[in-house]
Amino acid sequence: MSKDDKPAHGRYGVDIDLPADIPDAIAALLDRRVIRKYSSAAISETTMALLLSAAQSAPTKSNLQQYSIVVVRNPSVRNQIADLVPSMPWMKTAPVIVVFLGDVRRIRRLAEMRGHTYQNNNADTFMNAAVDAALAMQCFITAADHLGLGTCPISYVRNRIDDLAEILALPDGVFPIAGLCLGYPDAAGYLSMRLPQKIVVHRDHYDDSELEDDIADYDNRAHDRFALSPTKQRHTDKYGVLEKCTWSENAARQLSLPERAGFADFLKRKAINLASDEP
Ligand SMILES: Cc1cc2nc3c(=O)[nH]c(=O)nc-3n(C[C@H](O)[C@H](O)[C@H](O)COP(=O)(O)O)c2cc1C
Repeated sequence: MSKDDKPAHGRYGVDIDLPADIPDAIAALLDRRVIRKYSSAAISETTMALLLSAAQSAPTKSNLQQYSIVVVRNPSVRNQIADLVPSMPWMKTAPVIVVFLGDVRRIRRLAEMRGHTYQNNNADTFMNAAVDAALAMQCFITAADHLGLGTCPISYVRNRIDDLAEILALPDGVFPIAGLCLGYPDAAGYLSMRLPQKIVVHRDHYDDSELEDDIADYDNRAHDRFALSPTKQRHTDKYGVLEKCTWSENAARQLSLPERAGFADFLKRKAINLASDEP
């Protein structure tokens, strides 16, 4: 076993103390990665039903289950969605695209059906629906990994959110979280190095007083393992190509230009109110 094959070393680029016996399910999580190329092998309906059952086994706020899932197998609909994101050609190779949606519509309809006033069109409900959908997506991903399938979430579909909503016929109260490419892997994924626990995990109180030094260490480790090629460096037209473009530089570059400025407007047009706590 090379040092990068050790569970923590692969994930962090440094060793950390872990139990000697790591259960297979957790070892698989430490080795998890997105897959961006799929074979044309079909995925059976029973396999899909199993994955969807895993997704629906995720925790959900107050058991309100404020999400929906659209399974897109039809090649014409899949292509329409993939065509929204030409910069991500791996979408075209996925035999299935699964779209995870926050859904506050169903509960509103239930309020009508039960004759109650609905008084929670607010940011908290939006957040609960978004978290529900994300947790369901992660359970789906974990189950897919266990079956030897590969996945890749695609939030870029939200760059063309009105077109996506039209393709999927999304009504008011329903909004996309992400598409998820699904298929049997046709290429190995790459194990991404994560920030050290020292940066992400706080003990008793939040404390980022050593962030600058800790990020510099992480940047160096990540660069030593996988130097970012010019094509992976963000906004080179504005900032140029660097020989050493670190994770923090690339993250700061990415968010230095506005992304998806129309999302709040889309939610408003879909009758989702983020602006106040008024119903
Ligand atoms: C909410 C979400 C949206 C994502 N959107 C995209 C996307 O649009 N295109 C893509 O290729 N990967 C996307 N990804 C995958 C991330 O780029 C990937 O998870 C990250 O680079 C870390 O790699 P890893 O998952 O292999 O550890 C997304 C992941 C998440 C969780």
